[in-house]
Amino acid sequence: MLRSLAELTPAPAPGAPPTALRGVRTVRPLAHARRDFPGEAVTSGPAVPSAWCAAEVAGDERKGRAVENTVLVTGATGVLGREVVARLRGAGVPVRALTRRTELPEDPGVAWFTGDLATGAGVDAAVAGVHTIVHCASDARHFRQDIPALRNLIAAARRAGVEHVVNISIVGVDRITYPYYAVKLEGERILEASGLGWSNLRATQFPELLNTALGFLARLPVVLAPSGTGFQPVDQGEVADRLVELALGGPAGRVPDLAGPQVHPATELARSWLRAAGKRRPVLAVRIPGKVGAGFRAGVHTAPDRAVGRRTWEQYLAERVAR
Ligand SMILES: NC(=O)c1ccc[n+]([C@@H]2O[C@H](COP(=O)([O-])OP(=O)(O)OC[C@H]3O[C@@H](n4cnc5c(N)ncnc54)[C@H](OP(=O)(O)O)[C@@H]3O)[C@@H](O)[C@H]2O)c1
Repeated sequence: MLRSLAELTPAPAPGAPPTALRGVRTVRPLAHARRDFPGEAVTSGPAVPSAWCAAEVAGDERKGRAVENTVLVTGATGVLGREVVARLRGAGVPVRALTRRTELPEDPGVAWFTGDLATGAGVDAAVAGVHTIVHCASDARHFRQDIPALRNLIAAARRAGVEHVVNISIVGVDRITYPYYAVKLEGERILEASGLGWSNLRATQFPELLNTALGFLARLPVVLAPSGTGFQPVDQGEVADRLVELALGGPAGRVPDLAGPQVHPATELARSWLRAAGKRRPVLAVRIPGKVGAGFRAGVHTAPDRAVGRRTWEQYLAERVAR
């Protein structure tokens, strides 16, 4: 848990959910498996007849308590989304998970839905009856698709009467003209103007992203690292903690940024990663030209005044990279 949250939250009894999660009703899964059919709900875990699930939903709706706590996580198979799903499930929150895949994870207690935000296929079914959406989906390879994807999600959320969308963004998106950041910023603005209740959290880079990038760069005989540039990795699990806290509260608007405990020069990140991975390569600092390079050198993507994350890069290396 984040230092700031730990300070605000009295220690729960062993096994009890965090304060923000107490009182959340534990319900059985809402829907039944159809593994091969986009848009159909899929619940892994013990098989239950679909008629049972429909009755559960209808019965709840008649009692006016339906799915008031149900949270849909988009990008649920991703680095961040899977951490969010695990925390919601662990807290007993009714959770749905969206993916484009038709082969769905075995994940007891989670109702998986196949859908594609970019086309809108299957999205209405996933969103129907949902109270809150945690939006973690992003297509890094075709990131311009993230805008129509968000518009489709918002349109479906409005049709379904969703009350709260929690968005994850990146520190510094408004201070640098990096194409992916421009899309993130546009997404923030679209959500703000959507008429839906919203919360938006900006975080710094996840160690998993740096690990992937360094793994790629280390395929070359020399590892290139941007000169004069630091990164402030923040554990994706700590970001998920904060998103879950936001999801279980009301719409909060833009909330304070979330950054890792320390800013590390990129060259130092590369060297420490190489040591942990047991690889021997020289690290060469290269100057990134233009405004983007200048922005990163100025550290617009870091937030030293919001270094509230606790888990360090060294811990990540020891647990996930070291051989
Ligand atoms: N990585 C970082 O360092 C970092 C830092 C701050 C903020 N963020 C933000 O955090 C979010 C999650 O990042 P991540 O690193 O967890 O990403 P990731 O691992 O690449 O996961 C992205 C997810 O988006 C889903 N997705 C992509 N296109 C989709 C579509 N058209 N319809 C439905 N689902 C779609 C993918 O699911 P399927 O392939 O299963 O469909 C995947 O689960 C992004 O918004 C990112 O900008 C990331």
